[in-house]
Amino acid sequence: MTAESPFPASDDASLEYSRAQMLAMGQAVLERSVDHVAAIGSQPSRGNVDAAELCRSLREPIPEAGTELEPLLALLFDDLIPRSFTTPSPGYLGYIPGGGVYPAALADFIADTTNRYTGVWQAAPALVQLESNVLEWMCDWMGFPAGSSGLLTTGGSGATFNAVLCARERLLGPDIRRGTIYTSSQAHLCIVKAAKLAGIHADRVRLIPVDSAFRMRLDALKAAIAEDRAAGLVPFLVGSSAGTTNTGAVDALDEIADLCAAEKLWHHVDGAYGAFFHACPELRPLLRGLSRADSLTLDPHKGMFLPYGTGALLVRDASALRDVHAATAGYLPESPEEFYDPHQYGPELSRGFPGLRVWMAVKMYGAARYRAAIAEKRALAVWAAERVARIPGIVMDAEPQLSLFAFHLEGPTLATQEARNVATAALVEQVTRRGKVLLSGCTVDGRYLARVCVLSFRTRMEQMETCVAHLAEEAAKLLA
Ligand SMILES: Cc1ncc(COP(=O)(O)O)c(C=O)c1O
Repeated sequence: MTAESPFPASDDASLEYSRAQMLAMGQAVLERSVDHVAAIGSQPSRGNVDAAELCRSLREPIPEAGTELEPLLALLFDDLIPRSFTTPSPGYLGYIPGGGVYPAALADFIADTTNRYTGVWQAAPALVQLESNVLEWMCDWMGFPAGSSGLLTTGGSGATFNAVLCARERLLGPDIRRGTIYTSSQAHLCIVKAAKLAGIHADRVRLIPVDSAFRMRLDALKAAIAEDRAAGLVPFLVGSSAGTTNTGAVDALDEIADLCAAEKLWHHVDGAYGAFFHACPELRPLLRGLSRADSLTLDPHKGMFLPYGTGALLVRDASALRDVHAATAGYLPESPEEFYDPHQYGPELSRGFPGLRVWMAVKMYGAARYRAAIAEKRALAVWAAERVARIPGIVMDAEPQLSLFAFHLEGPTLATQEARNVATAALVEQVTRRGKVLLSGCTVDGRYLARVCVLSFRTRMEQMETCVAHLAEEAAKLLA
């Protein structure tokens, strides 16, 4: 090169690594990750998340020069990753667990290194077919008929947003301001958020009260619909829950489906937590009516135990999803009639390859093992709930309809609601501090409830026994 050359002698402009370098780096990452997972049961169920100071210390200007991999791995695995909730831990019983099965990590690595383009069918038809298979398998598990389809999203919130768009497009068209949505006061916040994103503001969203089992009250739902119609508004969507986040309540899906059919409303079911129990034929009665939904939110990063970042929406009439998203441009090929074409079914064009992690996991385990794991989580929750209910001072508020139950502490020293709330929150905290299981709580109508949700694929009987024992010991201390 001459001195004037725009191409300098050093090879800084190349970002490529040699084969040997890639193997060495890959091996280093693999060892760190596998060691981490292999030791996950002995890590505290919640790391030290009192981390404001740590966060401040991490702020830095953009680094001009690169760093070797090893110090970065040390920072991540030794210092930062432990400072979090140990969500893949077998003792993670808080919020809605999932776990993160290993085949999905392998799939992500393959997807990222091969970096094929799955937004448009023509660019990677065979890979898109795998994603299409995954959606069909989910339709099958959920009892959705031929003609259904769906969309993989980054989570349940994204799925729900797309569901509201389908209903809005189908039933309101451009006249969206008069449209009203109904969901229970216990529904996940993502429904209200999705409504707003879809242009349906909070003044058009009705939060229907629940019964003593935290299920949407049908009489109140009917009354709210009638009242809105009388006021000249246009009811168009009921969002029911197949397992609420707070207490695991499953709404009366079948009856709500009947009502929606009679009223010509779109019935969306939020199955982010609970829908995968429908994969087990013996558990389907718990979710009766789920397969009649017009659309269904799933969260494979919960009920299929995948790592965070995979949600799914199933839509009974696939054309509803296409009507929302179909678009073309002069530089794009024509979408095929026969095959699933992701950008025609969702808002994204360029995207990762979300289907591969689902496909790998199902292919490697097989559906039978998945069903066994899902059914075991419910059985563990039922087993634990029976024992927790017998602990002196504990009052069960929500039996496990699926694999989540909720309860609170009562006792002679806890005369007021405030005192019961404080004690129940302390119970959650003290059990969690012991480091073997992580619990979380929720507030429902001013009542603080402790909750146990069994949905990590790593949770087995050992953790249930620990959970019951630690609850009993800490409850006794609090009531002493
Ligand atoms: C019942 C329910 N619906 C929806 C969601 C939202 O899903 P995501 O967090 O994947 O967006 C959650 C999340 O916990 C949930 O529990």
